Amino acid sequence: MYRITTSTLVLAIIFISTTVFAGTCGPKFPTECICGNENYESMIRYVVNCTNAGLQNTSVLEFMPPEVEILIFTGNNIPQLPWNVFGTINDYTSLTIVDMSNNHIREIRGKTYHHVQNVKRLILNHNNLSISRDDDEVNHHHPRVFSNFMNLEALHLTDAFDDNTSPHLSEDLHDIFVNSNLAKLQKLHLEQNEISHFKDRKVFCDLPSLRDLHLGDNNLKEVNFDIKCLKNLRFLDLERNKFEYVKAKDLILMDELEERPDRTANLIVDFNLNPFVCDCKISVLHDWIQQTAVTVRNEENLMCFRNHTKPEPIMKMQYGKCASSKLRASMTGHTMTLIFLLIVLSMILIALVAALIYVSRDRIKYMITPVFDTVSKKVHYTSIKDEDCPEVHV
Ligand SMILES: *[C@@H]1O[C@H](CO)[C@@H](O)[C@H](O)[C@H]1NC(C)=O
Ligand SMILES: *[C@@H]1O[C@H](CO)[C@@H](O)[C@H](O)[C@H]1NC(C)=O
Ligand SMILES: *[C@@H]1O[C@H](CO)[C@@H](O)[C@H](O)[C@H]1NC(C)=O
Repeated sequence: MYRITTSTLVLAIIFISTTVFAGTCGPKFPTECICGNENYESMIRYVVNCTNAGLQNTSVLEFMPPEVEILIFTGNNIPQLPWNVFGTINDYTSLTIVDMSNNHIREIRGKTYHHVQNVKRLILNHNNLSISRDDDEVNHHHPRVFSNFMNLEALHLTDAFDDNTSPHLSEDLHDIFVNSNLAKLQKLHLEQNEISHFKDRKVFCDLPSLRDLHLGDNNLKEVNFDIKCLKNLRFLDLERNKFEYVKAKDLILMDELEERPDRTANLIVDFNLNPFVCDCKISVLHDWIQQTAVTVRNEENLMCFRNHTKPEPIMKMQYGKCASSKLRASMTGHTMTLIFLLIVLSMILIALVAALIYVSRDRIKYMITPVFDTVSKKVHYTSIKDEDCPEVHV
């Protein structure tokens, strides 16, 4: 009797400990992973959560419960994502959000993501991605890397790239956007990537549904990428970049986008917390804000700095002295164009007249000869008459 109870107890302990220590995700997972229904963004969803689980590879992802809706796989150490992270036989049809932030991911292979046709949000923030052809003498450029995310609506790449990322980032990104066919992508986050300019102006033009473009916390000094191609763009985030003023041509571009007849929403742009300089150049932004149809977010909080010290609100500054110089600047611009046009037109005119004269030179000669003759005769007579006349002194 006593023996039986002991063995039952031992068995019970073993059973309890295996179920408890196996965790909620099953025996293939480390106990740090948690699986089950959770409140996620105020909805009850089936979450697989492997946060800080000390994982060195993604092999557990083949064994997720099939009802998984949200995968949180963050704070692990996975330099390279292999082919088919979710296995080849699974079909996680309910999977809609994949968060793989903070994993020191360096390379995502071209065939990494399969069976992700219902994923709407992919988060790859705070990684160490290289997408370049020439980093480490290894080709990390896989242009079809996101091609299976047919229904992707939001792509988060905040602080996602290697700190000394190649200057060709924009070209490589464009290549990925073209080849991955992200036709439904509405939100793109590219904050904190030390982007100072886009070499490829059309970098975002192959994202036809793009609505929100987040470029905050970069090193941009101008809007040197095409926005006119983004007919659905409604929010352009340029907070905390390196704008000292905004070029008139950038402002014109935004107006041109806003004036597209096929627009569905208003454009909102955020220029807050840039190191604007309080001088006449900033008056262009001030004047534009007062007349544009584009909404400038928190325009009353836009500050400029005099000698990098005290911030002054751009919308409350006095630009009395600037107005004339600005006018003159635009006047000279126009005048120069007019003068140039005038010179070109006169040159064309001269060339045409010369050509006309050359072509009809025989007729002109024929017409002119009698006139010339009479004139020369007249001159002749006059000179004779003059000679004949005696000088008269009064
Ligand atoms: C995932 O797990 C981490 C750590 O265990 C926790 O802090 C976080 O809130 C969890 N996330 C969700 C959505 O359950
Ligand atoms: C993946 O990592 C686990 C430990 O987290 C290890 O046991 C396993 O062998 C690794 N698998 C591969 C394919 O490296
Ligand atoms: C990023 O990758 C480079 C190249 O492999 C490596 O030298 C660096 O330490 C990595 N940084 C982080 C934060 O993982």
